[in-house]
Amino acid sequence: MKNKNVGFSTKAIHYGHEAGNHLGSLTPPLFQTSTFVFKDVEQGKNRFSGEEEGYIYTRIGNPTVTVLEERIAALENGEAAVAFSSGMAAVSGVIFGLLKSGDHIISCDALYGGTYSFFEMLKDYQIEYTGVDITDSADIRKHIKKNTRAIYIETPINPTMKLIDIKAVAKIAKEIGAYLIVDNTFLSPYLQKPLELGADVVLHSATKYIGGHGDVIAGIIVSNKEIAKRIRMRALKNVGGVMSPFDAWLLLRGIKTLGIRMDRTIENAMKIAIYLEAHPKVEKVYYPGLKSFPQFELANTQMKGPGGILSFEVAGGVEAGITVMNNVEIFQLAVSLGDVDSLIQHPASMTHSAVPQEERIKVGITDGLIRVSVGIEDVEDLIHDLEQALARI
Ligand SMILES: Cc1ncc(COP(=O)(O)O)c(C=O)c1O
Repeated sequence: MKNKNVGFSTKAIHYGHEAGNHLGSLTPPLFQTSTFVFKDVEQGKNRFSGEEEGYIYTRIGNPTVTVLEERIAALENGEAAVAFSSGMAAVSGVIFGLLKSGDHIISCDALYGGTYSFFEMLKDYQIEYTGVDITDSADIRKHIKKNTRAIYIETPINPTMKLIDIKAVAKIAKEIGAYLIVDNTFLSPYLQKPLELGADVVLHSATKYIGGHGDVIAGIIVSNKEIAKRIRMRALKNVGGVMSPFDAWLLLRGIKTLGIRMDRTIENAMKIAIYLEAHPKVEKVYYPGLKSFPQFELANTQMKGPGGILSFEVAGGVEAGITVMNNVEIFQLAVSLGDVDSLIQHPASMTHSAVPQEERIKVGITDGLIRVSVGIEDVEDLIHDLEQALARI
C-alpha cells in the first residue's frame, strides 16, 4: 500500500508492502541475503550505473529494509528514510553525511550520553560543537558562528524532560542556512513530527519505541530525498553501519502496534506521575503531562501526548534513590527505553556517566535523579511495585 491519506496505524500496518507482489504473503518477506544475482553482465552494469533500478548488495539496499524505510518515512511525513545498524550509527551517519571538517554544530546542553561522547570525539576530526540552552533562543543566537552548519537537538531532553520549541529553532536554522536535526527517539512519530515543524532531518534510535520489544538495536533517519541520498551514499555505503534485514523485519512487526502501545504507555505514565507527585518521599517529578510541568503549554501544542518517560527525585538523595532502584521487582533495572517492559535506571551512573559531573548537575541531572520508562503492564502492579520500593527508604 502506498496511500498516504490514511491514519497513522493504518500506515504503520500496511504502508510499503503489497501482498500481491509476494505470493500473497501478509507480512513483508524477510530477504535474508547479502547479495542479489544479475541475469547477465549487462544487467549488472546497468544496476551499478543506475540505468536500471534494482538491488545489488545488501549494504547498498535490501527489499525488507526498503519496506521499513518507506513506512517510517510515511509515518514521519518525510520523503525518504535511511536505516542504520543502531541509533548511534544514525547519529554519526547524519553528521558524517552532512558535515565536513571545519564545520560547527550547536547542540542542546544536555544530550544522550552516547551522542555527547560522539560530539566530543568529533573534535579530533575538526568538527566543533557548542552545547547551548536551546530553550532560550537568545542563547542560541549568541553562539552562532560563521561555520555553524547544524543545530542538533533532542526534545524532550533526556532525562530532565525539558522541551525545545522546534518551530522557533527551525526559524533560526533557516535564517543561518544550517540543518536542523532532531532526535525524536523519546516520542516516536506517533507523538511528534519534527519535519512538519521545520526540521530538516529526524532521527531515531529504533531500538526504542519503534521496535518496542527490547530485542533489536537499530537506527533510522528521515528527511527529503536529496539529504537522504547524500547520507546513504556517504555515511551508509562508505562507513557501512547498515541495518540487518532480520532487524528490519522485527521492526516492521513492532511498528504495527506503535499507536496502541503509545496510548497505553501514556495512560500508565500519567497515573504513575500523579501517584509519585503526591508521594511524601518524592521531592520532584518531571513529566510533560503534569500540570505542574513548567512547559505544559508547549507540550500540548508541539506533542500529541506526553510520552512514557518520566524522571523523579526522592527525599534522601542518592542513597534513597539506590534503595528504590534495588528493590523494585516488576520495573527492570536496565538502560534503554520505549519497551513494553517498564525499565528504571540511574542516569548519573549509567546513561549519562560520560558527561562530567559539574556539566550534568548544571543541566539538572542530579546524582539522585531516577529515570523510568513506563511499559504497558497493568498500572496497579507498577504503582504497587513503586510503593513497596519507596517504603524501604
Ligand atoms: C535519545 C537517544 N538517542 C540515541 C540513542 C542511541 O541509540 P542506540 O542505542 O540504538 O545506538 C539513544 C540510546 O539510548 C537515545 O536514548
